[in-house]
Amino acid sequence: MRDFNLKESNKNKYIDLGERGKLNLNNKLNDLTGKEWIKFSKSWFVHRPPRRKENEILHPAKFPESLVEEFIGFFSKKNDWILDPFLGTASTLIAAGKLNRNAAGIEINKKYYQISLERIKNGNYENKIIPVCGSSLDMLKLLRKEKLLEDIQFDYTITSPPYWNQLERNSIRQKDRKQKGLDTKYSKSKDDIGNLDSYEEFIEIQAKIFDQVFQLTKPNGYLTIITNNIYWQSKLYPLAFDTAVSLTKRGEFSWTLKDEKIWLQDDKPLIALGVNNAWVGNRHHQYCLIFRKEV
Ligand SMILES: C[S@@+](CC[C@H](N)C(=O)[O-])C[C@H]1O[C@@H](n2cnc3c(N)ncnc32)[C@H](O)[C@@H]1O
Repeated sequence: MRDFNLKESNKNKYIDLGERGKLNLNNKLNDLTGKEWIKFSKSWFVHRPPRRKENEILHPAKFPESLVEEFIGFFSKKNDWILDPFLGTASTLIAAGKLNRNAAGIEINKKYYQISLERIKNGNYENKIIPVCGSSLDMLKLLRKEKLLEDIQFDYTITSPPYWNQLERNSIRQKDRKQKGLDTKYSKSKDDIGNLDSYEEFIEIQAKIFDQVFQLTKPNGYLTIITNNIYWQSKLYPLAFDTAVSLTKRGEFSWTLKDEKIWLQDDKPLIALGVNNAWVGNRHHQYCLIFRKEV
């Protein structure tokens, strides 16, 4: 193990990693100590991302690498393969590279794909890090075409799909981004699932993409989807809940829903919504849905 003064406390089973705790050499899932495992198992966490750098602000909804790192660290081991079918500007691939995992991701928007290439080049990672430009609706074809990936089965997928077409509807935030000359939608492509108008169609097409992830995942491999419920025109669309349920009803490609972890965003300002009139909540949390391929 890197960077640690190792002391074997039990020849057969454990390595003492000092402050980190003890690493069980029979740990099937990750390279964490028991102490670190228990810490991650809490059903909620607060995460305050560092300020985004210039080329990261361009993207309307990037998740922080520091958050993805924690999930990849828990659900995979060194040199495992990680997948992200909605790559954006490559947060998942950067986190995977930092943690010595191999990784591939697909992004439909050429501009974000170019930013990804640049960020990955600057990272000088030792493992294989493969961004692909295209639609995840063609994921099986796209990844199997890549020579390197022909036989690869992924150990873990973590991703954040578009939150239906919420970007177009979130008018307060959009006004601010428009003024700053930043993107207010991901792309104009008809295959961009953030451009689907029908909620029901979105749930179905999104599930079809995760059918393909299922086929590319090793038995017992995990999937984490970061998403949220959406408030629109005085009504809550239970996108996170419908996503959770929809993936468990896919016939031979059905995922097993294992849990949710709730990301609490206590660094967002409260906005006056519906005051003196009717309930409108300040939604300052997101859902990290955890699935497993159990066959
Ligand atoms: C919520 S963002 C993901 C952001 C990413 N996690 C990051 O940190 O940069 C969703 C991404 O999915 C992309 N997308 C939408 N439809 C897609 C499709 N059919 N195939 C691949 N990417 C798609 C969008 O362009 C957008 O960049």
